[in-house]
Amino acid sequence: MKIAVLPGDGIGQEVTREAVRVLDALGLPGLSLEYADVGATAWRAHGHPLPPATLEIARASDAILFGAVGDFDCDHLERHLRPEQAILGLRSELTLFANLRPAKTFDGLEAMSALKPEIARQIDMLIVRELNGDVYFGDKAIDTLPDGRRRGWDMMSYTEDEVRRIAHVGFRAAQGRNGRLCSVDKANVLETSQLWRDVVIEVAAEYPDVALEHMYVDNAAMQLVKDPGRFDVIVTGNLFGDILSDQASMCVGSIGLLASAALGDRQTDYGTFGLYEPIHGSAPDIAGQGKANPTATILSAAMLLRHSLGLERQAARIEAAVARILAEGVLGWDLGGTAATAQIGDAVIARL
Ligand code: IPM
Ligand code: MG
Repeated sequence: MKIAVLPGDGIGQEVTREAVRVLDALGLPGLSLEYADVGATAWRAHGHPLPPATLEIARASDAILFGAVGDFDCDHLERHLRPEQAILGLRSELTLFANLRPAKTFDGLEAMSALKPEIARQIDMLIVRELNGDVYFGDKAIDTLPDGRRRGWDMMSYTEDEVRRIAHVGFRAAQGRNGRLCSVDKANVLETSQLWRDVVIEVAAEYPDVALEHMYVDNAAMQLVKDPGRFDVIVTGNLFGDILSDQASMCVGSIGLLASAALGDRQTDYGTFGLYEPIHGSAPDIAGQGKANPTATILSAAMLLRHSLGLERQAARIEAAVARILAEGVLGWDLGGTAATAQIGDAVIARL
């Protein structure tokens, strides 16, 4: 079982270290790890945020454990050299189109939510975010109009097959949960969203057991803080999913807690090939201080075991250990506690 480990930039290095220690602690036979550079780290060492060698190591693996990318020093670079292109490149090159971002309140952490505890307690949702299309991957430019004014533009589009395949992921996820799917779009304004909605309705015919509703993204942002318990599975496009998943993290309590999986169609010998990463970024402001919460990455490693390596029992063990340390009050800086990055890793390993 080959895992490509791509720690990346800033706190990506620190949180990935802890997730790898947790995997090591499980003592899984036949697991091999191969490290490679991505992001600003790779740009400094090799002149590109996603060097060909890194892409090949990722492609040849059964699963990828990814930290985070991003570095203010790179803000002036041409877009194709910026650190973010590493994660966008991996998602598109490896056709990892389905992003699963679960958000569930942890027992004992209700008071950490940005919401009232009795509202936060209800949160148990899965955001299914499309990852290969939308305004992220359309043509884009900053150009100059004939009259000399500068204009920035980004093309937003979805083809029907792109919508159909992510809709199927959403419906199947709902079948495995509470049978409710909320498709989030902006069909009252955007043609991209109108097609999205039309195709989701077509796909719904194959899933009579799933209750489908449609919601505009602005309303979804409101419902997420007003009544998050109403959501079971949300399926949405790349941009809306990016925004709503950050919002969901603060409803749970901290962006340092939410894990994610990026999956495609490719099967490995053990499960579905995928990339696993915390939903947070490289947080250069706290990098190197031991203040990063590795929980999201540790939980991403659990998702890796579940989806790519077929090791459900080991995944559940990690999740139970994380739930226990949080319930016991082992809290990082992001949650008002003092536990350092490595101490959180130690605590999880001790509970395993
Ligand atoms: C995420 C991140 C990325 C995204 C960035 C780093 C390109 O915000 O995974 O949510 O926008 O998808
Ligand atoms: Mg994001």
